[in-house]
Amino acid sequence: MQTIDKSMGDLLVKYLKPIEENWQPSDLLPASEEDIFFEEIKEIQALAQEMSYDLFAVLIGDTITEEALPTYESWLMDVEGIDQDNKNGWSRWIRGWTAEENRHGDLLNKYLYLSGRVNMREMEISTQHLLADGFDIQTGRDPYRNFIYTSFQELATNISHRRVATLCKKAGNTRLAKICGIIAADEARHANAYESFVTRIFELDPSGIMLAFEDMMKKRIVMPAHFLTESGGETGDLFSHFSNAAQRIKVYTTQDYINILSHLLKEWDIEKIEGISDKAEKARDYVMALPGRLQRISERIKVPEKQYQFKWIAS
Ligand SMILES: [Fe+2]
Ligand SMILES: [Fe+2]
Repeated sequence: MQTIDKSMGDLLVKYLKPIEENWQPSDLLPASEEDIFFEEIKEIQALAQEMSYDLFAVLIGDTITEEALPTYESWLMDVEGIDQDNKNGWSRWIRGWTAEENRHGDLLNKYLYLSGRVNMREMEISTQHLLADGFDIQTGRDPYRNFIYTSFQELATNISHRRVATLCKKAGNTRLAKICGIIAADEARHANAYESFVTRIFELDPSGIMLAFEDMMKKRIVMPAHFLTESGGETGDLFSHFSNAAQRIKVYTTQDYINILSHLLKEWDIEKIEGISDKAEKARDYVMALPGRLQRISERIKVPEKQYQFKWIAS
């Protein structure tokens, strides 16, 4: 962590955007100080009515996932090698990343509030539950495991926001397509950053990170909202309904999980990593064979066809 910290100045410039040049949520939303505000809201609401039920449910679940950012920031600030001192490059990275990420929930939340299709109180209760319940990503405070997790996770959010954007575009909802598209682009840039941290660790400690990679893949990468709950429910019992909706509309599927893994294997050139211990060689064999194994299992998985009635969607 100290070695990579030395190049943090360059990494911050490469992977984060200057705040005052960066897009802000208000760039994509109607301005309430303008006369045309109410007309724009009418258009937003008319177009929102045309979105499919599952798509809207997924969009709300994605928003709640983004809104639980305090969980992710506080988790990462506690990783070994990161401390509260602003001279620590890693803490500057986490804070800069958080500042960019915070726009995602902010923008989506405001859009959903204006859309007229959301029971905001139910959405807010779910958000509060998720924040209060945290998550269990099984990385501990280990930076290796955490950066493998975040590499995976940023790619997963890139895929899901990008797919929602495509579906919105098809439905003629260009504003929402732009909103999800611009968020997806941030996620892609963040994924690049975390992948590059892991690439660097593969140069510095190939055996150590290979073992961490195997360990995370054995535990499976859980989604950060896996404790998703609705009012009156038990912790986490809403997650499968959210995930099934995402699978039904092909916004994020088991196939995507496999594809992300295959992408990372290539990105980190796992096949060609040299000078690793016998144990790390076995770990390499495990992760290399995993996409094929998961592929065979995924062919047997059936997604329930019946829509779940989410309390989030206004009746
Ligand atoms: Fe995000
Ligand atoms: Fe992200």
